[in-house]
Amino acid sequence: MSARKLEGKVAIVTGAARGIGGATAVELAANGAAVVMADLKPPSEACAVTRKIEEGGGRYLYIQGDVANRERDAALVEQAVSHFGRLDILVNNAALSIRNPFLKYDLEDARRTFEVIFWAGFTLSQLAARQMVSQGGGGAIVFISSVHAVRGYANAVAYNAAKAAVNHLARTIALELAPHRIRVNWIEPGWIDTPGEHIAFGDEYIEREGRKLLWGRLGTPEEMARGVVFLASDDSSYMTGACLRMDGGYVLGSPDIV
Ligand SMILES: NC(=O)c1ccc[n+]([C@@H]2O[C@H](COP(=O)([O-])OP(=O)(O)OC[C@H]3O[C@@H](n4cnc5c(N)ncnc54)[C@H](O)[C@@H]3O)[C@@H](O)[C@H]2O)c1
Repeated sequence: MSARKLEGKVAIVTGAARGIGGATAVELAANGAAVVMADLKPPSEACAVTRKIEEGGGRYLYIQGDVANRERDAALVEQAVSHFGRLDILVNNAALSIRNPFLKYDLEDARRTFEVIFWAGFTLSQLAARQMVSQGGGGAIVFISSVHAVRGYANAVAYNAAKAAVNHLARTIALELAPHRIRVNWIEPGWIDTPGEHIAFGDEYIEREGRKLLWGRLGTPEEMARGVVFLASDDSSYMTGACLRMDGGYVLGSPDIV
C-alpha cells in the first residue's frame, strides 16, 4: 500500500477546526485526499489545522456553518463536488456534550445534542451516499462515536443516547449501502486529549485523572485520525458495519477491581 493511500479521493470532515476532526483533516490530506472542512467556527480558529495541511502540500476547502441543518448539509455536499469534482469519504465528527443530571436535564439541550450528533450524521450520510451512488458507487462513511455509546456514564444522558443511536444508524446503513460498495464504520474513542475536553474539565483535572487510566494517559487526536484513515482507505476494504474501538482499554474496567 502506498504512503498516500487516499490519492484522488475527496473527503468531508465535520467539526474539523480542532481536536479529532482537525487531526483527521490533516491526516486525510497527508494521505492525498482533498478535504472539505466543515465547522461552526470561523476559519481563523482553524489556522493551526489549515497551516499543517498547507505545509504538507494538501488541498482543503473550509466551510463555516452548523451541520445540524439540512439545507446547509446539502450545500456542503454540493460545494465539495463543485470544488473537487466528487465525494468519496464522509467523516461525521462534529458533536456537543451538555452535562447535567438526568433529573434536571433540559429537553432543549437533549434535542440540540441529537440534532448535532444524530440528525446531522443521518442527513449528511444520506446526502453523501446519494452522491457516491450517482458516481457509480464506492466510498466510505466514518462516524466518530464514543465509548459512551456502550456504557452509561452519568450526567451525559443525551450524548450517550445519541452516540448509541449513531452506532445503530451506522450498522443499518452499512447493510443498505453494501450493494453500492459504500462502507460504513465507526470509531469509539475513549478519553482523548482535545481542546473540547480541556475547556470542559480543565488542564489540572485532565492531567490527574488521565494518569489513572489503564494506559496511563489520554489518547491523542492523531491516534484517532490514523484510525479514520484506516477506515476510509482500502486498508479496511473488507470491513463494514463495524466498530474500531480506540480507547487504550478504557472499557475493560479497572485491573484493581477483582
Ligand atoms: N475528546 C474525547 O474524549 C472524545 C471521546 C469520545 C468521543 N469523542 C468524539 O469525538 C468527536 C470530536 O471530539 P473532540 O473532543 O475533538 O471535540 P472538540 O470540542 O475539541 O471539537 C469539536 C469541533 O466540532 C465543532 N462543532 C460542534 N458542533 C458543531 C456543529 N453543529 N456544526 C459544525 N461544527 C460543530 C466545534 O466547533 C469544534 O471545532 C466528537 O464526536 C466527540 O463526541 C471525543
